[in-house]
Amino acid sequence: MDSVCLKVVFTILLFNICNASNNNCDLSGILLYEDLGCKPAYDRVAVRNSTCPTNFDCLGLKKSTSSCFFKGKTYKVNDTVDSRLTAGFCDLGCSCQRYQKDKTKFKCATVECPEWTNIEPPTGCYRKYSLDDCCYIREMCPPYENSTVCIYDGKVYKEGENFLPKNSCWRCICQAGFRGKLEKPFCRRRSCGAQIKNQEKLQEKCAPLYYKRKYRDNDPLCCPTNWICSDGKEKIMGRPQSNKLCVFGQRTLRVGQGFDKTIEIARNITVNCECKVPPLLTCITHII
Ligand SMILES: *[C@@H]1O[C@H](CO)[C@@H](O)[C@H](O)[C@H]1NC(C)=O
Ligand SMILES: *[C@@H]1O[C@H](CO)[C@@H](O)[C@H](O)[C@H]1NC(C)=O
Ligand SMILES: *[C@@H]1O[C@H](CO)[C@@H](O)[C@H](O)[C@H]1NC(C)=O
Ligand SMILES: *[C@@H]1O[C@H](CO)[C@@H](O)[C@H](O)[C@H]1NC(C)=O
Repeated sequence: MDSVCLKVVFTILLFNICNASNNNCDLSGILLYEDLGCKPAYDRVAVRNSTCPTNFDCLGLKKSTSSCFFKGKTYKVNDTVDSRLTAGFCDLGCSCQRYQKDKTKFKCATVECPEWTNIEPPTGCYRKYSLDDCCYIREMCPPYENSTVCIYDGKVYKEGENFLPKNSCWRCICQAGFRGKLEKPFCRRRSCGAQIKNQEKLQEKCAPLYYKRKYRDNDPLCCPTNWICSDGKEKIMGRPQSNKLCVFGQRTLRVGQGFDKTIEIARNITVNCECKVPPLLTCITHII
């Protein structure tokens, strides 16, 4: 499969097929690094097999008593993040705050969308969204005059409807001109807001935990569901495959190294954490 991809790399149609199967970087969890504003790096050997980044350079993976970090920028205590950068994931007026004497995190105003309570729109109507806003922006009711429809993956969406294309970490909203491609201004990479919601986990160099369905190899790793932090007792196994390093609490692991760990999140689950795309470990737990 790899060699087929290499041979046809210059024919656009087949390149797209390759792209879909082998080079879907979302399978390796790069969305989180994009969300953190990390800079991608490409290994020259690996690039021949894949166009995905092999590691990232991230700001803010260390304890700080005076600053918070968001998308590659440093915010001093009391500095406020422009709400336009955080509205998409429903946080507004976020400011860097000190807590527990020697730690920092962002505090934000809570947004409550009317649609989060269970009130359905009137019969026949639906809610229109925008990629820049947290809550819906309008209720659309018949007649849908001049209204656009979009077709993606065999499904039909009405203008303003929100959809998450499968096997990817994109989010789209149906708008006039959409031609079935995951591209701006119709689609955007999803936002996790990890530094806003989990600044302290990142400063402690915890690892993102993703849930993956069994036997679904195409399930992408988008926003982490939880975080795994080091207790210093993990038994690290596996042969190093490169000299690139992942950080995990006080420890470092090389690409190819990892461990299994049981954690209690409502019930006891086993997670597998591995250094795949540094600098963070990638932890996975399988669900049915
Ligand atoms: C690239 O592909 C070749 C052949 O499939 C394989 O032997 C090699 O290990 C791959 N290299 C990397 C870095 O994945
Ligand atoms: C942040 O603001 C609070 C309240 O206004 C003030 O007491 C504190 O000194 C400020 N901290 C810094 C580092 O500016
Ligand atoms: C629908 O399009 C027609 C022709 O472009 C225009 O005259 C009409 O005002 C539009 N209706 C609405 C509700 O936008
Ligand atoms: C998880 O495992 C620990 C240690 O075996 C046990 O004490 C605890 O009760 C378990 N928790 C649940 C929810 O099963």
